[in-house]
Amino acid sequence: MKVLIATEKPFAPVAVKGIKETFDMAGYACETLEKYTEKAQLLAAVADCQGLIVRSDIIDAEVMDAAPELKIIVRAGAGYDNIDLAAATARKIVVMNTPGQNANAVAELVIGLLIYTMRQRFNGKSGSELMGKKMGLMAFGAVAQNVARIAKGMGMDVSSYSPLNRPQKIIDAGFHVHESLEALFHYNDIVSLHCPATPQTIGSIGYDQLMCMKPNSILVNTARAEVIDEEGLLKAMEERQDLRYITDIKMKRHDEAVEKLGDRYVFTPKKMGAQTAEANINAGLAAAQEIVDFIEDGVKKCQVNH
Ligand code: 3PG
Repeated sequence: MKVLIATEKPFAPVAVKGIKETFDMAGYACETLEKYTEKAQLLAAVADCQGLIVRSDIIDAEVMDAAPELKIIVRAGAGYDNIDLAAATARKIVVMNTPGQNANAVAELVIGLLIYTMRQRFNGKSGSELMGKKMGLMAFGAVAQNVARIAKGMGMDVSSYSPLNRPQKIIDAGFHVHESLEALFHYNDIVSLHCPATPQTIGSIGYDQLMCMKPNSILVNTARAEVIDEEGLLKAMEERQDLRYITDIKMKRHDEAVEKLGDRYVFTPKKMGAQTAEANINAGLAAAQEIVDFIEDGVKKCQVNH
């Protein structure tokens, strides 16, 4: 059994060490392909592997066809929109993710970026505080639940809207439930997006939602770029000079956003949400264990394709 760890954005070395130890104990070979720049490198590296661990790396039918022995792909992370599930299913390849393992890291980044932005990027000017502000979470999965925990501890008024219309988790956690997306945007000072990119959510946040935000509101996106209708967002933010957009995924229209929005567009140079040693260890080790459990005992608990 040979497993490849293919990460264009590498794990922390300590996580790679742990993953390799897990495979050593199982008697599996393990190789790494890190910081690759060409798809050809990935195609060559997967040729003789039966297991594959990736992060946001694009795994499409071409990659799968270059790996004729591939049995299992684990996305070390939550969102698996980078993997062609239909192509995997057609080739009898099992795809899994590691839900919740990097959730706290992403949640801490949300709060960190908010403080950075609200304190005027620490430029010496007077800023504002999070305490007492209304924090609205779109969706209430593992990342949102961690944001809610931290925000509540900071004295924020937390509420949420579930686009899947499953409000029970929000109610059980003791937070106010919004009945609609519009209500979420209308009520809060900050709206933070925590939904996956699905046909239902892609392009779902744009002009109408931003235009109904309160004065001086902030939209935070540590989810996926695709959730935003960028044309609508840019139009709304040109009309509403009081709004700010913080994102951990640079906009496709990045240069235009920098030019039109200036400091009101806050972005990380590369997706940083899960980029901590702790999150890498949690997700990487979980991914390795899922592969061992699947190969040895057929365990498919985290399978996302059927
Ligand atoms: C996830 O879906 O788990 C996050 O977006 C993290 O993605 P990354 O592994 O590319 O940092």
